[in-house]
Amino acid sequence: PRSLTILGLESSCDDTGAAVLRREGDKAVILSNVVASQTDLHAAFGGVVPEIAARAHAEKLDIMVEQALAEAGVALCEIDAVAVTAGPGLIGGVLSGVMAAKGLAMGLGKPLVGVNHLAGHALTPVLTDGMRFPYLMLLVSGGHCQFLRVDGPQDFRRLGGTIDDAPGEAFDKVARLLGLPQPGGPAVEGAARAGDPARFDLPRPLMDRPGCDMSFSGLKTAVLRVRDDLVAAQGGLSEQDRADLCAGFQAAVADVLAGKSARALEGQGALTGFAVAGGVAANASLRARLDAVAAAAGLPFVAPPLALCTDNAAMIAFAGLLLHEAGARDDLTLSARPRWPL
Ligand code: KG4
Ligand code: ZN
Repeated sequence: PRSLTILGLESSCDDTGAAVLRREGDKAVILSNVVASQTDLHAAFGGVVPEIAARAHAEKLDIMVEQALAEAGVALCEIDAVAVTAGPGLIGGVLSGVMAAKGLAMGLGKPLVGVNHLAGHALTPVLTDGMRFPYLMLLVSGGHCQFLRVDGPQDFRRLGGTIDDAPGEAFDKVARLLGLPQPGGPAVEGAARAGDPARFDLPRPLMDRPGCDMSFSGLKTAVLRVRDDLVAAQGGLSEQDRADLCAGFQAAVADVLAGKSARALEGQGALTGFAVAGGVAANASLRARLDAVAAAAGLPFVAPPLALCTDNAAMIAFAGLLLHEAGARDDLTLSARPRWPL
């Protein structure tokens, strides 16, 4: 039986991750998956500061690797291959990861595999749910929003995506506009629970346009306008105003994502299912809407557990494992790429 133990590294945004994954026959088992979040370091700046992120990754990578090995009960010399996010992402962080991975692979004399971060997200349902190709993936995070048709570990087709902001970014900006804490997604979702989504008339950008491209920046601007009108009329926002605005915004995002998902599923022929990944997939009302879209298309809906939906190294190790099995190998010429479309 095939058996291979792979170490994965992730450092493309504000999470430093390391994971150990083992191939055992048909299964891939996550032996450990640790992550150090930089949220606190960037909190004062209202967004991720690339310089601070790069330095923190460089400081944390070794520690995370040690932790991942210890938790897995695996010695460094038992690692058969090293996988690393080689892009897309903030270049300083990606470079830190790529350099660390090169050092480890060279020291061990074992293969190095560069992984596209988006492929990591897109292949996660295969790891968590044994999903089979081809399937449709909606990737929704703070930095990404796209529909991918996944036909194999190296076979992705982008069917459409946002033409401006990613939904997570819009959640974060709306939270900031309304004086709610960061990250905005959970805060907006929490406030929306007590809100009336129909009170304010918010747009559903590009909904009537053919294709599955999306836009979210106008929606954020519409929220800003409603807020300013309320402030001008009554001198501030009440708790209820805030709740209603959050509920209205969240419903608009869900309408757009659900509507475009239905369209993305059209004309794809036989698919095994519809999957979602990325931090925004944590949103319960959005998950329910997407689940309904899949059901209407007669397809199973797969949403990986949250820790594997957000940025993590297990998904990089897994994508690296599939690439390795397909014969992919990188060497010391592997470069870090800020942009890298699938
Ligand atoms: O995938 P992720 O952890 O990091 C990247 O962007 O790569 O996603 C983080 C994003 C943030 O914008 C956050 O506000 C959003 O996911 N998010 C949510 C929720 N939880 C996190 N958005 C909506 N509802 C949530 N419950
Ligand atoms: Zn990501």
